[in-house]
Amino acid sequence: MEINKIYNEDCLSTMAKIPNDFIALTVTSPPYDNLRTYDKKSGFKWNFEIFKPIAEEIYRVTKEGGVVVWVVGDATIKGSETGTSFKQALYFKECGFNLHDTMIYEKNSSTYPAGKKSSRYSQIFEYMFVFSKGKTKCNLIIDKPNKWKGFKDFSGKLKNPVLDFSPRNNIWKYTTSFNGVKHPAPFPEKLANDHILSWSNENDLVYDPFMGSGTTAKMALLNNRNFIGSEISSEYCEIAKERIKEFDKK
Ligand SMILES: C[S@@+](CC[C@H](N)C(=O)[O-])C[C@H]1O[C@@H](n2cnc3c(N)ncnc32)[C@H](O)[C@@H]1O
Repeated sequence: MEINKIYNEDCLSTMAKIPNDFIALTVTSPPYDNLRTYDKKSGFKWNFEIFKPIAEEIYRVTKEGGVVVWVVGDATIKGSETGTSFKQALYFKECGFNLHDTMIYEKNSSTYPAGKKSSRYSQIFEYMFVFSKGKTKCNLIIDKPNKWKGFKDFSGKLKNPVLDFSPRNNIWKYTTSFNGVKHPAPFPEKLANDHILSWSNENDLVYDPFMGSGTTAKMALLNNRNFIGSEISSEYCEIAKERIKEFDKK
């Protein structure tokens, strides 16, 4: 198994080459309910039956204590949200994962802005399900400014003043951006960055089974992690390789 490589193939073919208990962290976003049109030449198909063996394989290749971050959203069809995200989350639990944290990625602009005649509020978030294989260690990001920073209570019981920052909450807000890449749905670099910092350590192996434009690979390399990626479209694979070549250790 070659690492620091994006495999231009179905992720099931890549995972067939990965030994059990091998990956420290997976950060990925799968196709969402066919919400976006990807490279038609790649011929990929997506539905719950295709998702199931992929989830099972992700469980097999994840190390004990390893984590999977699954960034996903639902389509609204005939007036109802599909609920695919929840269905997938529950299936990951059936595979053996803990649902460690249901986090929210709040976007800066809404997918379906609400108008005056709208029957629902603007859709402005996606789920970031964090699954763990057994108990996980994490490096919480401590960047939420404390309102009471420097405060010492009047009774004098507090030995040290309140610290400047606390661990952040589990709703993360990012600006959606294409980062100049020609892919219909890249996730923000900072989103991948913050999950890599939270759930892995230097030299760990990070996997993205739906690599798209290479965001996870780029942020893994910039944070001194190794990566493996799968991407079924040769066009996106080339975009990703071009995007990471200046950061690649090889
Ligand atoms: C939501 S996009 C991922 C975007 C990526 N996070 C980024 O920042 O660019 C999903 C990607 O999965 C790819 N894909 C779909 N089915 C696949 C499969 N079975 N194996 C590998 N890649 C697949 C699509 O071609 C698409 O590029």
